[in-house]
Amino acid sequence: MRVGVLTGGGDCPGLNAVIRGVVRKGVQEYGFDFTGFKDGWRGPLEGDTVKLDIPAVRGILPRGGTILGSSRTNPLKAEDGVRRIKENLAKHEIDAMIAIGGEDTLGVAARLSDEYGVKCVGVPKTIDNDLSATDYTFGFDTAVGIATEAIDRLHTTAESHMRVLVVEVMGRHAGWIALHSGLAGGANVILIPEQRFDVDQVCGWITSRFKASYAPIVVVAEGAMPKDGDMVLKDQTLDSFGHVRLSGVGEWLAKEIEKRTGKEARTTVLGHVQRGGTPSAFDRWLATRFGLHAIEAVRDGDFGKMVALRGTDIVRVPIAEATARLKTVDPGLYAEVGVFFG
Ligand code: F6P
Repeated sequence: MRVGVLTGGGDCPGLNAVIRGVVRKGVQEYGFDFTGFKDGWRGPLEGDTVKLDIPAVRGILPRGGTILGSSRTNPLKAEDGVRRIKENLAKHEIDAMIAIGGEDTLGVAARLSDEYGVKCVGVPKTIDNDLSATDYTFGFDTAVGIATEAIDRLHTTAESHMRVLVVEVMGRHAGWIALHSGLAGGANVILIPEQRFDVDQVCGWITSRFKASYAPIVVVAEGAMPKDGDMVLKDQTLDSFGHVRLSGVGEWLAKEIEKRTGKEARTTVLGHVQRGGTPSAFDRWLATRFGLHAIEAVRDGDFGKMVALRGTDIVRVPIAEATARLKTVDPGLYAEVGVFFG
């Protein structure tokens, strides 16, 4: 059997660990051959491949990024996309595909599998942790660790100058990174996309923090939005590559805080630092187990399925279950951390 592997969407620490797990088990236990496809679904669409064997996966476990490259190409939007993919898979004698990705990449895998008979197994990844049907996605733990360390560091400089420090973390639609890193880092305010915030209330928390002789840290997810109807900065714009770009809620908020409280404020935007570099031990563990179980699903002929973490077990669920809706922060969970605000 020959198995194709691709990584799509935003990269994330742990992708290489999945690829290594898939290839090591596939070759050693099942005698499978592999073909790597470059840059997500662009690879199968354009027939762009790379050699994928045991030597190719040697030493990649602790490496961030992906040896296969990634892109957000959606082949279902390309002219003749399905036909071209099928032709290229046939040309490379691919019997099954393993697609490692988030909502979009897996959405394509679900449709190709369910509607067009392309045999796919999915592996969930995203630093945002917002995929349904799995308790955690790999990459999230690493991102939270990086953000937490940043918050720890910002506490000391904030206190030296008695300033407000606003930390903008990733998370367009879900506030998981903000919630976990904000709680772990002892932030005084955490703002998430799931709940619009009131700037005056935020300023009230900041003022009370100063009254207690501490400098406040505000963690804001990039997709968080204020209640004020006049705020237009969150308009999503498309860049020249057609990608959605958000425009600086952290900077905007720091300016509003200065205006409304008279306190000096600075912003740190963590950006892609949260996605780069070596995966945490937990992410290596989860990604490797996902890889081992994904190739087992291929061996079993269990297509249209995605591997998922439930408690400490790896299970298989229909890919479509993960992509049907985003997993967002529950209001009850958010309310729980509110005790630390101010
Ligand atoms: O989905 C992962 C993610 O890192 C989001 O948190 C973020 O909004 C987005 O990707 C950034 O995308 P890009 O790398 O294309 O700028």
